Amino acid sequence: MGYQAKFRVWRGAGRPDETISAAEADGELHDYEVEVNEGEVVLDVIHRLQATQTPDLAVRWNCKAGKCGSCSAEINGKPRLMCMTRMTTFDADETVTVTPIRTFPLIKDLVTDVSYNYEKAREMPAFAPPPGVAPGEYRMAQVDVERSQEFRKCIECFLCQNTCHVVRDHDENKPAFAGPRLFIRAAELDMHPLDSLEDRKEFAQATQGIGYCNITKCCSEVCPEHITITDNAIIPMKERVVDRKYDPITWLGSKIGRR
Ligand code: SF4
Ligand code: F3S
Ligand code: FES
Repeated sequence: MGYQAKFRVWRGAGRPDETISAAEADGELHDYEVEVNEGEVVLDVIHRLQATQTPDLAVRWNCKAGKCGSCSAEINGKPRLMCMTRMTTFDADETVTVTPIRTFPLIKDLVTDVSYNYEKAREMPAFAPPPGVAPGEYRMAQVDVERSQEFRKCIECFLCQNTCHVVRDHDENKPAFAGPRLFIRAAELDMHPLDSLEDRKEFAQATQGIGYCNITKCCSEVCPEHITITDNAIIPMKERVVDRKYDPITWLGSKIGRR
């Protein structure tokens, strides 16, 4: 049976940040009452709000099936996909607060500029098959396919990037830190038996800033695809970087080699 839900939605071109007042942020939270019907998700209610009360409300979405990664937001302070958050999660008399993800600059209302993630993706050297192997000739053992398949589930919702404390509220760290979404990409390529670039671990350390990660695992907790980002990608990449850097034989070899 339908009911009227209380929604509080961020409107304006600013960010709902406790360190920035609403006046400074040029925006504020607005209260609305919106009809909710059985089986609906938060995105349905946002669409109804748009259709009936706020035609200029900016919201990004595409698939409504948890697969395009466009509708990321913070719902009652938790990073979620709006299309995958059922209204039955909340009590009928509860106020549902929807704010934009906050690690990225706000464009308008619930839409942020996520270019940072694409800039970091462009910095990463592409998959490099061995010379002489043409597309169609790639062959991999099933066990190698399975090892990195988990990382291919990423829908680029950037909720992990939004949650990581290294860049959330710390724009100054962005130039040196690629973030968990890109760490899983590095791990995937590192585990790929046909990738001929050997310095993925050094790249993760020197350019992607994996050393900033102190394994809080918040990224893994918010991933809608349940990718075990920290345990299966970040920690193995860190361990291998540490192995190479501090392994006494490697260290001795590098000293002798330098003479
Ligand atoms: Fe989203 Fe998970 Fe991919 Fe991060 S790793 S962008 S949380 S799907
Ligand atoms: Fe950030 Fe995830 Fe590491 S949240 S600190 S990248 S474990
Ligand atoms: Fe595609 Fe939500 S609209 S993930």
